[in-house]
Amino acid sequence: MASDRAPEAPPPLSGADLDPDAIERHKDAAARTAAELVQDGMRVGLGTGSTVAYLLSALGERAPQLRAARCVATSPATAAVARELGLTVEELDEVGELDIAIDGADQVDPDGWLIKGGGGAHTREKIVAACARRFVVIVSAEKEVARLGPPVPVEVLRFGARQTLAALGDAQPRDVAASPDGNLIADYLGPVADPRALAERLSAAPGVVEHGLFAPELVSEIFVAGAEQVWRRTGGKSDE
Ligand code: 5RP
Repeated sequence: MASDRAPEAPPPLSGADLDPDAIERHKDAAARTAAELVQDGMRVGLGTGSTVAYLLSALGERAPQLRAARCVATSPATAAVARELGLTVEELDEVGELDIAIDGADQVDPDGWLIKGGGGAHTREKIVAACARRFVVIVSAEKEVARLGPPVPVEVLRFGARQTLAALGDAQPRDVAASPDGNLIADYLGPVADPRALAERLSAAPGVVEHGLFAPELVSEIFVAGAEQVWRRTGGKSDE
């Protein structure tokens, strides 16, 4: 498969194209590379966001050849578009283990840590990533960063939300602040010097449903698209 042959070398962290049109082309390229991994009959997790919109479009073009594929969507928006494009969407509990899940990210660091949740769907996205034998991340090159930084999205129960955010410290609710499950979405704005320590601290806070830090061991591979080509990075869940 072409995507398995994508070169294994990290692109430079600096020099990524910041031209908005170029970024859209790179999102499309990463998404199309990952879409090639989806075969008929697979159980497929679908992420959320603008990069995933390109993935849906690529899968939609092959919908007649993917009639037996069973998709699980991480948001109502993704479910609606996938169905419109002719893909079969079911509930995660009906489908169970997934063969593959494909999703975008807001930041990717050199160790393979991700920040996700720009669209507020990171709790569902993390559940789906964990259920997938292969979790593939698709990003344009400017998402690669030398060091993760705020904001880190956090989904919080509405009960006692003000107290929960106060306990986290530097955290602010978003203006449009609902997760797909109706919880509050806030952004943690403090430092992210040690992602694992911060992930543990956020997870331990009563009232936090889930945070947007994804550890490398959740990730099988990352397709990074830049001006020249799509690079393939191996993640911590890879058996390579
Ligand atoms: C949604 C997400 C998205 O994958 C992340 O925000 C990247 O979005 P985009 O592809 O639009 O840049 O985590 O909750």
